[in-house]
Amino acid sequence: MIIKTVELETVCGITSKLPENTKPEFAFAGKSNVGKSSLINALMNRKSFARTSSQPGKTQTINFYNMNDSFYYVDLPGYGYAKVAVEVKAKWGKMIENYLHKSPMLKCVFLLIDIRHEPSDNDKTMYDWIVNNGYQPVIIATKLDKLKRSQVAKALKVVRTGLGIGPEVTVIPFSAETKQGREEIWDLIEDSVNS
Ligand code: GTP
Ligand code: MG
Repeated sequence: MIIKTVELETVCGITSKLPENTKPEFAFAGKSNVGKSSLINALMNRKSFARTSSQPGKTQTINFYNMNDSFYYVDLPGYGYAKVAVEVKAKWGKMIENYLHKSPMLKCVFLLIDIRHEPSDNDKTMYDWIVNNGYQPVIIATKLDKLKRSQVAKALKVVRTGLGIGPEVTVIPFSAETKQGREEIWDLIEDSVNS
């Protein structure tokens, strides 16, 4: 994918009105710290345009990145971040749900799962939500570089079994360090934008 322009066009907090974009949107969901913003940086071909942190809870707004004036990456706050007050968590949950529910231009929700961990109940809920709302699920198993090559197949099986998915669902192993998996994700996005 050739990236000509990248712009953080809209930032939405819990009280913001969502933008009425007319170009396709691709959203990235997953637990706090799983690597959503890092993946988006890799897909933007930028080092740190989207803010990342080793501390969970970094992204607290819904951020719309306009790519080449032809589509958007949507960076979502993570779920399952223990340090946030219960009421705030509920508000973020509502904000994410509202976005996922009310966005006619949303083409695909990528669900990120740390390749080293068994999917949590929240991950399963998010997966079911994606499917039940009629989106094609694509799973991205992040932090691939943290595993030895010999551990990967087994770890991917744990992710598949944990989410209860069959062979028809795509799981893409990805590393923000090595960028492995990036081409495959770009291909999916390009196909969707051009379809
Ligand atoms: P929230 O915004 O808090 O929901 O987190 P996030 O999902 O956006 O995660 P973020 O991209 O900020 O990454 C969290 C931490 O994991 C950072 O320290 C990243 O450098 C690290 N990280 C992300 N992806 C990878 C990866 O593929 N490999 C390795 N080794 N570290 C990664
Ligand atoms: Mg983030």
